[in-house]
Amino acid sequence: MIDIKNVLILGAGTLGSRVGLQAAISNYHVVIYDIHESALQQSRGVMDKVLRYAVKIQLIKEEDKPSILSRIKFTMNPTEAVVNADIISESVTEDPSIKEKVWKQFGEIAPEKTIFTTNTSYLLPSHFATLSGRPEKFCAFHFHDVFTARVVDIMPHPGTHPDIIPLLFDFGKKLNQVPVLVKKEWPGYMFNFMLMSLIGAAGRLKIKDVGSIEDIDKSWMVNFHMPMGPFGILDNVGLDTAWRVTKDREDEASKSFAALLKSYVDQGKLGEKSGEGFYKYPNPIYKDVEFLKG
Ligand SMILES: NC(=O)c1ccc[n+]([C@@H]2O[C@H](COP(=O)([O-])OP(=O)(O)OC[C@H]3O[C@@H](n4cnc5c(N)ncnc54)[C@H](O)[C@@H]3O)[C@@H](O)[C@H]2O)c1
Repeated sequence: MIDIKNVLILGAGTLGSRVGLQAAISNYHVVIYDIHESALQQSRGVMDKVLRYAVKIQLIKEEDKPSILSRIKFTMNPTEAVVNADIISESVTEDPSIKEKVWKQFGEIAPEKTIFTTNTSYLLPSHFATLSGRPEKFCAFHFHDVFTARVVDIMPHPGTHPDIIPLLFDFGKKLNQVPVLVKKEWPGYMFNFMLMSLIGAAGRLKIKDVGSIEDIDKSWMVNFHMPMGPFGILDNVGLDTAWRVTKDREDEASKSFAALLKSYVDQGKLGEKSGEGFYKYPNPIYKDVEFLKG
């Protein structure tokens, strides 16, 4: 099996930027590809912010920053992006038609050696495997926040070659993640599947006006000593991404919750990445020491 050295990230958004940065911290050569120049610009900003955090938690030293950043290239040219890729980690918008287009495109231009992974939150790898032209090398490799939530799900589809799994376990560990195997295709993997129950319940409490956003979050944070509650988590994920994974659900509770998320998205309130969602950033009230006091 291939010795991974060069990593190609498709999509320079919230997750692509984080996965790419962690790969560079772990000494891989990284290319970040996006179709929007603005996304590549924003990605540099996200990386600066995360690097400051990485120094603060002593994951890296301040003087390591230039060499880490020197291992990352940004491009809008797909052919140039893929030329040396040993592995692709795809983090484009959570929309099946966009991902289908991207996998068909990169399936045609990627070198033979390249392993294909998708970071989709709720779609299944078998949806894209055949389309990519190399189902045996296709696997879901799903991160959470990369730096504070470090589980990485490895979820093969029935046609994934068995050798891909230990390779991704090893790669995941080198990326400072904790790999877990999702033995069968399961929408939402394991953590997100559990998280959806919490977020769904929080959404119902808000829609039925049982409590305020702050008090719903406070209930969860105080009792479980958590750094954020369900609405803080949603801001962190991105309300547009959260809306995309909720909007096609059939049950009434999900439909109303999707409508609530959409009302924020329509105002440009996408969560932390846009400066406002359920809370205002960079200093959301739930991070204030007073917030959790009685
Ligand atoms: N946000 C999270 O917390 C989180 C966590 C785990 C996994 N994910 C998954 O990661 C993926 C990306 O989510 P995100 O939150 O980073 O989204 P995002 O909206 O922040 O970023 C998506 C990026 O994809 C780019 N893009 C769109 N079409 C493209 C194309 N054809 N080619 C290349 N780039 C294209 C966009 O320009 C954008 O920069 C989704 O599948 C999502 O489910 C997200």
